[in-house]
This record gives sequence, structure tokens and C-alpha cells, in this order.
Amino acid sequence: MESHEYLTSLFSLDGRVAVVTGSSGTIPSALSRALLRSGARVILWSRGIRVPVEEAVARIEDDAGVHGRAYGMKVEAGNEDSVGEAFRKTVELFGIPDILVNGVGGNRDREPLIKADVEGFKKTLELNLVSGFLIPTKAFASTLIDADHPGCVINIAAMSSFRPFSGVWGYDAAKTGIVSLTQAAARELAPHNIRVNAIAPGFFIGDQNKSLLLDEKSGGLTERGRSIILRTPFGRFGTIDELEGVAVFLASERASGFMTGVTVPIDGGFLTDTV
Ligand SMILES: NC(=O)c1ccc[n+]([C@@H]2O[C@H](COP(=O)([O-])OP(=O)(O)OC[C@H]3O[C@@H](n4cnc5c(N)ncnc54)[C@H](O)[C@@H]3O)[C@@H](O)[C@H]2O)c1
Repeated sequence: MESHEYLTSLFSLDGRVAVVTGSSGTIPSALSRALLRSGARVILWSRGIRVPVEEAVARIEDDAGVHGRAYGMKVEAGNEDSVGEAFRKTVELFGIPDILVNGVGGNRDREPLIKADVEGFKKTLELNLVSGFLIPTKAFASTLIDADHPGCVINIAAMSSFRPFSGVWGYDAAKTGIVSLTQAAARELAPHNIRVNAIAPGFFIGDQNKSLLLDEKSGGLTERGRSIILRTPFGRFGTIDELEGVAVFLASERASGFMTGVTVPIDGGFLTDTV
């Protein structure tokens, strides 16, 4: 077998249908692009608040250089009715999906524990665990189990899943929870041939964290940015395309079919930091 043919047989997602939630976000967009380039049809679920759904689809297709295989749907990932309806529509239009990427999630401002905003804490848990895992995964698994269809889920954890960040109490709790729920769901869904894994991105400059990591005026590192780089053996932030390979690997049944319950760090060695 030619090497090209071998690699295609390992990693091609031709004929697969992937649903990506939070798809206009920085990391979900990168993962959508990777799945598209690998041959999947990608259903981009988005609230359409920051970017209209059609615009998000056009942007991802242009970035991927692939046209006609991405489709947008307006979905509120934290609402069971909205997600249930979106799965029904997805199945009707594209067949049973094979891959779910739980891309919804996010962080809030830092605060000392004694000033912690309880409502804010609850909202962060809700965003990352309920919208970012529970509701879409429950509906996806139930659709696949009913149809006796194999599949896989990719969750998004973070460095704070392993090392608590300072001052982001809800985010620390939620992202630790993602690692645990990835394992628990993997165990429960394995008999149905549904794999559940996660990726844990290290530090990537995105719209949301740019001002925390880079000084707006000088373009140099902030104190927090410097502290991260010092703890990262590669001595730099990641680039968003460095997340793509793991997403394709985890989505491919042939490449990672015996892997489940795993959270893969993509962090330039950040988690190896020690004295
Ligand atoms: N950016 C980073 O450096 C980084 C690092 C580690 C982990 N992560 C994780 O990656 C994931 C994506 O982060 P990002 O930085 O790309 O964030 P982002 O804010 O760019 O993307 C998240 C998307 O989810 C959408 N969303 C939020 N609530 C929703 C809901 N209820 N229904 C539907 N859509 C909803 C938002 O509109 C947004 O488009 C998050 O779980 C985040 O915690 C990000």
C-alpha cells in the first residue's frame, strides 16, 4: 500500500458527519476546519449571536478551502428542546451524526475567593458543563444508541483541568469536571461503541485572552503571559492549527478506535513544569 493510501485509510473522515457546538468560537472553528479538510461534512451549531450562522459557515469554509460540506444551524446548546430539535433536523438532512465536538465553554474574570461572585460561579459551571457537555452529549448518545450507530465525542478541557488557575473558581471546577465526565461517559457508552475523549489546549492567543497575555501598547508579554511562557518548555504560545491533528486523530475510528476516556494535553509541555 502506498504511504498516501495508508495515511488516508488511517485518518480520512470521508462520509462522516460531525456536529460542532459553539462553532463560531476560536477553538471550535479550528476543529471544524480540520474535520472539513479531512473529508467530513460538518454541521456548525451556533447561537449566531457574535457572528451570524451563515457568516460563520462561509468563514470556516474559506479558511478550510473546502466548499459545500459545511452547514449552519442556530442552536442554544444549553436548552434541551433546542438541542433535541437540532439533532432531529441534523438526522433528517444529513443522517445520523458520527462525531460530536463539544466546543461551547469559556472563562470569566479573575477574583479572590472571598470576593467570588456566586451567580458567576454557577453560570460558568452551567456554560462549561451543562451547555458544553451534558445536554449535547446526552442527545447525541441517545440518538446513536437508538439507531445502534457507533460514534465519538470530543470534549474540550483546559490546563486548569490539571493545575488550578488562580482566581477562576468556576472555570477550575468546570474543567476538572470535564476530565471526570469524559471518563464516566466513556465507560457508560463503550458498550454502545461510542468513544468519549477530550483535548486540553494549553495557551493559544485568541480574541478572549489576548489582552491578558499581550500588552496592547507594546505588543510584549504581560506579567501573566511571561509567567506562562516561563513554565512552557517550548517557550512560546501554541498556534491554533496545532490543535487540528489531535482532533482528526480522535475523530478517526481507524486511528484511535481503541481509545476512550482520555484527555490529551496540547500544551508545549506546560504540564511537565516542576522546580
Ligand atoms: N482559547 C483558549 O486558549 C482555550 C484554552 C483551553 C481551553 N479552551 C476551551 O475551548 C473551548 C472554546 O473556547 P474558545 O476560546 O474558542 O471560546 P469562544 O468564546 O471563542 O468559543 C465558544 C463559543 O461558544 C458559544 N456559546 C457559548 N454559550 C453557548 C450556548 N449556550 N449555546 C451555543 N453556543 C454557545 C459562543 O458564542 C462562542 O462562539 C472552551 O471550552 C474553552 O474553555 C480555550
